[in-house]
Amino acid sequence: MTDRATEPDATEATEAADALAASTSEASLHRSEERSRAIEAQIATDPSGFRMLTGDRPTGHLHIGHYFGSLANRVRLQDAGVETFVLIADYQVIADRDGVGEIGERVRSLVTDYLAAGIDPERTTIFAHSAIPALNQLMLPFLSLVTDSELYRNPTVKAEHEATGGRPMSGLLLTYPVHQAADILFCKANLVPVGKDQLPHLEQTRVVARRFDERYGRVHADRPVFPQAEALLSSGSLILGMDGTKMSKSKGNTIELRMTADQTAKLIKRAVTDSDRHITFDPVNRPEVANLLTLAGLCAQRDPAAIAEEIGDGGGGGLKKYLTEVLNETFAPLRARRAELEADPGHIVRIIREGNERANAVAEATLAEVREAMGMVY
Ligand code: TRP
Repeated sequence: MTDRATEPDATEATEAADALAASTSEASLHRSEERSRAIEAQIATDPSGFRMLTGDRPTGHLHIGHYFGSLANRVRLQDAGVETFVLIADYQVIADRDGVGEIGERVRSLVTDYLAAGIDPERTTIFAHSAIPALNQLMLPFLSLVTDSELYRNPTVKAEHEATGGRPMSGLLLTYPVHQAADILFCKANLVPVGKDQLPHLEQTRVVARRFDERYGRVHADRPVFPQAEALLSSGSLILGMDGTKMSKSKGNTIELRMTADQTAKLIKRAVTDSDRHITFDPVNRPEVANLLTLAGLCAQRDPAAIAEEIGDGGGGGLKKYLTEVLNETFAPLRARRAELEADPGHIVRIIREGNERANAVAEATLAEVREAMGMVY
């Protein structure tokens, strides 16, 4: 006997699982890139229709890769007039590890980096999702809207699980994309600047929003409870560590925003180059040298090839000297602000509390609407 009522649902779920798994495919990526360009154009003329949410797991200190890959972009969008929420994703920390570590210190350091980089707490709501009960409660209705096969097929979750090297998959790791949907939808954000690894989560978020509308209905007939959130693709971190491999705290190959000029100089001095004394910009054959040139180019806002030409026979030593100067000069104002902020820890704590308060008001209003749509008002 076929159960007619469940047939379309099952097909839809399979299609959605496919879309999710395919969200990092070439064609899909191309569409996301095109869409991102169109959104940028719209922001330039009228940013008022957007509400942006971004976030970080507080697992380490922010480094220059984070700065050029996402932080600078957030500040740019905030300054362009886009209403902004910045999330400290503290519950995500325990998705694939046993403890939270020095979480309090990490969170305060993260917020210090945000403010030093130009995130303005007057205009941007900075909050930690563990402090927002109504956000977390959205997880329950949202979980009712996804299937286990969708969850198991999420390519980013798979990759993250593989990276744990045989650690059993926790229920939180499996379901964190749904929690991330709650992060985005609690404030009805329609814009999420992300790297391409986050595209499956955005697709999952849109699926949750759509199914909520289909299954539980609306409060206002003219619009669904939740918007369709779109990715604004950022380059992610283009920069490798000082040894030419992926930046990682445990490898000690990253230049953190909080470091001093001296610490920076020491790290750059140890950077890996190659045996060819003549400096050229050749990302394919000379990735380590190209990485240092790219970084210098980002700091100096110059073409890396032109920098290579200028250094020429100055060799690895000349390149490192130039990079050290231009990097320390670029980050000197940020580091000075950071030092000032560090001198007043009470200020950072107040910023987090105020952000949490604002986020709580927004989350409670959304949860009230969700309960109403579901008829759970007694
Ligand atoms: N998963 C993101 C990361 O690892 C952090 C994050 C959590 C996030 N919730 C989010 C990003 C919601 C965008 C939207 O970087």
